[in-house]
Amino acid sequence: MKTTNPLLEAFRAVLEERRAKGRLRALKVLPPDVADFSSNDFLSLSISPAFRELYLDNLCKTSNSHRIASSGSRLLDGDTDYAEDLEEFLARFHNAPSGRLFNSGYDANVGIYSCIPQRGDVIMYDELIHASTHDGMRLSRAGRRTPFKHNSVEDFQEKLQKEIDLDPLVRSGKRNVIVAVESLYSMEGDFAPIREILDVLESMLPLSNGHLIVDEAHSTGIFGPRGAGIVQGLGVEDRVFIRLHTFGKAVASNGAIVLCAPITREYLTNYARPLIFSSATGLPSLVATRTSYELMAEGATEPLQAQLQQRIELLRSSLANIAPASSAILCINHHPTSPIFSLRTKFPHDLAKICQKEGLMVRAIMSPTVPLGTERVRACLHARNSVEELEKLVDVIRKWVRVKEKELERARL
Ligand SMILES: Cc1ncc(COP(=O)(O)O)c(C=O)c1O
Repeated sequence: MKTTNPLLEAFRAVLEERRAKGRLRALKVLPPDVADFSSNDFLSLSISPAFRELYLDNLCKTSNSHRIASSGSRLLDGDTDYAEDLEEFLARFHNAPSGRLFNSGYDANVGIYSCIPQRGDVIMYDELIHASTHDGMRLSRAGRRTPFKHNSVEDFQEKLQKEIDLDPLVRSGKRNVIVAVESLYSMEGDFAPIREILDVLESMLPLSNGHLIVDEAHSTGIFGPRGAGIVQGLGVEDRVFIRLHTFGKAVASNGAIVLCAPITREYLTNYARPLIFSSATGLPSLVATRTSYELMAEGATEPLQAQLQQRIELLRSSLANIAPASSAILCINHHPTSPIFSLRTKFPHDLAKICQKEGLMVRAIMSPTVPLGTERVRACLHARNSVEELEKLVDVIRKWVRVKEKELERARL
């Protein structure tokens, strides 16, 4: 007699539930001839023939004297001069005292948040912080994890005051408060009020037990001097406890660097488990990161930064003509200079499908990736998006809004 497997049945049930709600996740390969309004290749470096040539040349040269794979954790046999030089180079570029490479931004956040907070410490985090930070926090020994309203300095201040009132150890400076923000939020496309948060933290915790950690995953390469990030653009790198720069987006590689004081770096090397218990990044990715950062350091990516900003301005002004009259259908959330446009609509699958049919790759972003009720279509701009692609995108959205408005009108009659 054939028996059912209860575990597989459980999988089937939850997947069916997701499918029914239109929230089933599935892998999709980006077709070769679509206009990319979806990837995080903000500077279009990963499709740049010049970058490819330089990268392959560097890889050929380096692989003569280095092994291709790391073949072990950094702490065993996976460390190389190349990785150590890269860390020094990146720390210099980012005006940081030291840096430690991680295999990904995900690993870095899990490593940071699982071990940096000491027993009983408080973590305060923006409610829209990335899943990798949540996963790290869950593993931590923190006594409390307190969210504050997205980008609200006022709410942050109120919640911090509550922590201070509640806990004499926080007041006396014996217990740490670790604050987690992203410089540019991946789904909203807006910027953290970093300077204001620092001002509040330093004035309310004058005994140096407040520590800000800034994840620059989406701003690396795009903002700040030569793409060095928003913290450096603000000139507040000395006031930030840890900065995280990831390489999987504008840098056109893989991996991440955690920038911090040498003592923090030594602590991470001893306690951050994703670093200790995973094979180190192999040479191909290290070389891609180095190639990209050398271009950034020479100023060679500045024209791409400028071109990206032109594209952003063009899309921003074109979309502004569509949205206000049609807010029942579409609400465009955009923050000046951000490459991420959040197109809020009750019909995200519908809009994404129409765009994709026209060869424009945008994606519907559904709960649980974003909070329920805030589903949207996310459009990301890249330096190499052509003006024609932008015009087509605007045209398709405009026509879709008209059709939806008519449908809505008919339904009301
Ligand atoms: C804010 C943020 N932090 C960290 C990560 C993880 O970075 P990685 O892709 O390098 O693992 C992401 C990825 O999307 C992110 O958006």
